[in-house]
Amino acid sequence: MPTWTVHGGKKLKGKLKIQGAKNAVLPIMAASILGGGTSRLVNCPQLSDINASVDILRHLGCKVSCRDNEIIIDSDNVCKCHIPHTLMLKMRSSVMYMGAILARMGEVRLSRPGGCELGSRPIDLHLKALKTLGAEISEERGEVCCRAKQLRGAHIHLDFPSVGATENAMLAACAAEGETVITNAACEPEIVDLQNFLRCKGAQISGAGSSVIRISGFRPRKFACHRIMADRIAASTYLCAAASCGGDVLLDDAIANYFYTVITSLRSMGCDIICGSNYVRIKSSGRLKAGRPIVTKPYPGFPTDSQSLMMAACLKAEGTSVFVENIFENRFRHVPEMRRLGADIRTEGRVAMVSGVERLSGAPLNASDLRGGAALVLAGLIADGETCVYDTGHIDRGYENFAYALSSLGADIKRI
Ligand code: EPU
Repeated sequence: MPTWTVHGGKKLKGKLKIQGAKNAVLPIMAASILGGGTSRLVNCPQLSDINASVDILRHLGCKVSCRDNEIIIDSDNVCKCHIPHTLMLKMRSSVMYMGAILARMGEVRLSRPGGCELGSRPIDLHLKALKTLGAEISEERGEVCCRAKQLRGAHIHLDFPSVGATENAMLAACAAEGETVITNAACEPEIVDLQNFLRCKGAQISGAGSSVIRISGFRPRKFACHRIMADRIAASTYLCAAASCGGDVLLDDAIANYFYTVITSLRSMGCDIICGSNYVRIKSSGRLKAGRPIVTKPYPGFPTDSQSLMMAACLKAEGTSVFVENIFENRFRHVPEMRRLGADIRTEGRVAMVSGVERLSGAPLNASDLRGGAALVLAGLIADGETCVYDTGHIDRGYENFAYALSSLGADIKRI
């Protein structure tokens, strides 16, 4: 079990290249099996979730080679349509393989992802979308089975703009006869990245980034090469760290438009942030004041993934900061741990109120999820003395060399 040991009180200074986006590369890896051929993905972050996805691809029959930040997937010999429970368990987003395998094989069987640390996380919208395309769906012994001799283009209206359901619908629609229109689609930048990759693979698809996506055909190409977009949540993590620690940090390969709500919130707290075409620079005194309320919403609203990170930045900010979590029912699990440092946080249902305190004191903490775990490390960076974050591997799922990245900026942090 990795433990992150932090000694707080250091300012952050320097330059950091932002990793490729976990939430873009995972659906793109699933998409690589569409139509066979070889896919070369560059700027892939090295993460345990990516390793789990590589295991799934190899199980399905792909040849996969990984070197540094490049992954090459040869999917010509995909021969299985079942993912065993042990592989599904390693990563919640393995559900992305449902649309991809159905499109490639005409059938898919995988275990229904259970609840997780963020809440119940149902997949009803994914299944409804596949059903609309003509898949027959059955469930047996905890497994979902989808079958379709031939998927047919259709109008899929999502009751909620779910990221995963939008991605599954896009993948399955690539194999459908006729045009598919997805309305109330999620608009996240990762959906646009998936569209860009699908175009490289030979899909006729447009509209990603808006709420209407159209897929009208797919002529598979033998070779596709794609650079994974920069990770907006990793970028907002380092921005929040620099904001509360104080200092001067330049994030390279950071696309400000992708996390503008985070930037605007930090500005309202007193940070000086300059945005270039592919960099973001923050200067902060470390003495912040409570800013505008943080209300999480689907993109382009404030991202739920950055809520805990922003909360860490607010723990010592003067005044009261308000957080409203609208996406996941269980995304305040970092709160009791932050209180152990001396943070003053009250919660009521989906609302948390943080009253800034003068001092935090280091303590042993437990990471309960990826972003919550990273937020505890950030809180440790502004606490006096030593904070140990005990983690069952959550942070490694989403951050490449997290301790190295923060220590390269001057933080006193070790991963043991
Ligand atoms: N929902 C349903 N039914 C469905 C699907 C979703 O009710 O069939 C609900 C969920 O329970 C949740 C809400 O809709 O309350 C949003 O879920 P969504 O499907 O949009 O999220 P996701 O696809 O499961 C992705 C990211 C998450 C990120 C969310 C929201 C990946 C691999 N995961 O999850 O990232 O928080 O979108 O932006 O892309 C993370 O990186 O730490 C992470 C959890």
